[in-house]
Amino acid sequence: MTPSSSIASRVACIELNAPPVNSLGIALRRHIVDSVRAADADPQVAAIVLIGTEKAFSAGADVSEFGTPLQFETPMLRDVIAALESCSKPVVAAISGVALGGGLELALGCHARVALASARLGTPEIQLGLIPGSGATQKLPRLVGAERALAMMLTGQPLTADELTASGLLDRVVPQDLWAAASALALELAQADFPLSRARDRSVNADAARAAVSEALARFNARQRAQPAYQALLDAVQASALPFDAGMQRERELFLALMQSPEAAALRYQFRVQRESGKLPPSLSAESRDFDRVAVIGAGTMGSGIAIAALEAGLQVCLLEQSGEALARGSARISEHFVARVKAGKVDAAKAESLQGRLTATLDWSALQSVDVVIEAVFEDLAVKQSVFRQIDAHARADAVLATNTSYLDIDAIASVTSRPQDVLGLHFFSPANVMKLLEVVQGRDSAPDVIATGMALGRELKKTPILCGNAFGFIGNRIYNAYRKQCEFMLEDGAWPEDVDRALTDFGFAMGPFAVADLSGLDIAWRMRQAGAATRDPRERYVHILDRLCEMGRMGRKTQAGYYTYTDGKASPATDEVVRGVIAQASAARGIERSPLSAETIQRRALLAMVNEAALLFSEGVAHRAGDIDVVLVNGYGFPSWVGGPVHWARTQPRDLLEQELDRLVAANGFGAVRATPAMLDHLLG
Ligand code: COA
Repeated sequence: MTPSSSIASRVACIELNAPPVNSLGIALRRHIVDSVRAADADPQVAAIVLIGTEKAFSAGADVSEFGTPLQFETPMLRDVIAALESCSKPVVAAISGVALGGGLELALGCHARVALASARLGTPEIQLGLIPGSGATQKLPRLVGAERALAMMLTGQPLTADELTASGLLDRVVPQDLWAAASALALELAQADFPLSRARDRSVNADAARAAVSEALARFNARQRAQPAYQALLDAVQASALPFDAGMQRERELFLALMQSPEAAALRYQFRVQRESGKLPPSLSAESRDFDRVAVIGAGTMGSGIAIAALEAGLQVCLLEQSGEALARGSARISEHFVARVKAGKVDAAKAESLQGRLTATLDWSALQSVDVVIEAVFEDLAVKQSVFRQIDAHARADAVLATNTSYLDIDAIASVTSRPQDVLGLHFFSPANVMKLLEVVQGRDSAPDVIATGMALGRELKKTPILCGNAFGFIGNRIYNAYRKQCEFMLEDGAWPEDVDRALTDFGFAMGPFAVADLSGLDIAWRMRQAGAATRDPRERYVHILDRLCEMGRMGRKTQAGYYTYTDGKASPATDEVVRGVIAQASAARGIERSPLSAETIQRRALLAMVNEAALLFSEGVAHRAGDIDVVLVNGYGFPSWVGGPVHWARTQPRDLLEQELDRLVAANGFGAVRATPAMLDHLLG
């Protein structure tokens, strides 16, 4: 860290310079307090500007101090802010890059705020299971009104200074020359003959605060109700109508209680493992190849989604198809996307046009000669993909990276039809590919380190969370999801109805239950895969026939208005109908099971244990490189509740004896074919 202070034209400049993002660790907190006190005492100084780096004014509290005594070492952030507020000379925050969480609270402690239009300001604490703890819950309602303050704090998503221009949060928003604008304002304030204004001295309209809080509460979804930080945020904003110090006291109590919560611990863990997951093991350390031009082969839903993600990242995209009709449909899908984005105000028309201008659509394979990365996104069938890869091999440049977008197929079998298997890797995108954050980067037997590095770099460029996986059936995510889904089917045979399972798991925090998910993705896809695997399946394996029976009846899920549930006007019936119950009861009878209801807790534990067991197996096979990667995959791609951390984190919070006993029982009940992770495998996974 190289903090420094300087004085120019009677304005003291306090620089925040603690790389990489000016998080407010103890050293930076001390530097600010010492510098403000020195400037306040210096008769040469008329006003003070607090300024960060181009990347960050400040990214807030130092997350790595959380849970350690350093976080409470004085001066704490509240003391730093009190020092700013009690300074007799005006202090102006000059904001560039990000001002997040405690960084924004630091700025709120200044007498005025000037920001570059591109700066991003927000309170991401809710994503860490917390509420702001140094005044934002009290000051934002005073500056921008309770409704807007709540909207900002409940999403945790930053807004640009441009978007906040008229909000009352910022005094000036400038396109450039931040220092000049901030120091000019600081001198103006020093020369003015009115007292310095502080956010804490403003008042809050109590009725407006109450209305905003009850409206937000009425709109809470199940996931928000499940996390204590959301209710705490409402309580804190409600308290902003109290005298300022009483509101601050309430915010403190709520913050400290949340800090101890298991939800906040799990979200902190996710913060850490998500950042670690992007780093490759030393054996794979290599420079990424350069890429600017990407070809996407296949203009279906997946291919066009990938093309959109690449265009939005500013890459040149060539969309390649076999038939003119399919190409036209894909191109239309892409332009509809940009039209919708412009209409929703997410991007301006000129920008959308320039991004879309980087798209070319073609039927001509020779277009591959000019691209750096080829992403094949055709039908999920080995023979089809192999035939496409023969063409790619014939046309792509010698140094191009060749990727297959597949959920299950063997990367080596695809690479083997080319003359350059070292250039081939898997990129498993999730649908919709331009929205979903997760990207599994699959390393084939021969994939070269720089090819893997390019896959990871491309993922980051597309604003995704890329996770390195080994080439094994289902990679990380689908392998675990399959084990989970199978367990849920066993529970149907054992006595639960689909709605019991779905409700227990959404109550646990999953975004959707497994049977609602199955109906949404279409039962026929799973049916086809099961038929393809039938010949090699061990007849002694516990195999649940319910899905096959439903498909035979034409119940393919939402698209046929019936699957596990019946759909009217796109809405699912709350319970399964008698037909489905009949199929399930028959399956139980055929296995000789006397049905008895399963409690929500049993359902939740069985589903989680199935995930943990599979996670231990695949981790021991080296399919995941870090145990934390498994949790990143489940949270980012499969709707696992982030505030539980992921199956591995959950298992670490369970008594080990109980975990072993329950796994024994679970695997015994799963029948032949179920493999129990050994205690050594669990040790390896849970560390
Ligand atoms: N405390 C400690 N370290 C932090 C941090 C924080 N608040 N915010 C970011 N970092 C670290 C990251 O861990 C990473 O460290 P590494 O390089 O050792 O892995 C580094 O800063 C860069 O962060 P990264 O997220 O990889 O960079 P980015 O440019 O994509 O994003 C931010 C920068 C600031 C937008 C992003 O890191 C962020 O949102 N941080 C969280 C801010 C937050 O939640 N603050 C409130 C805390 S209560």
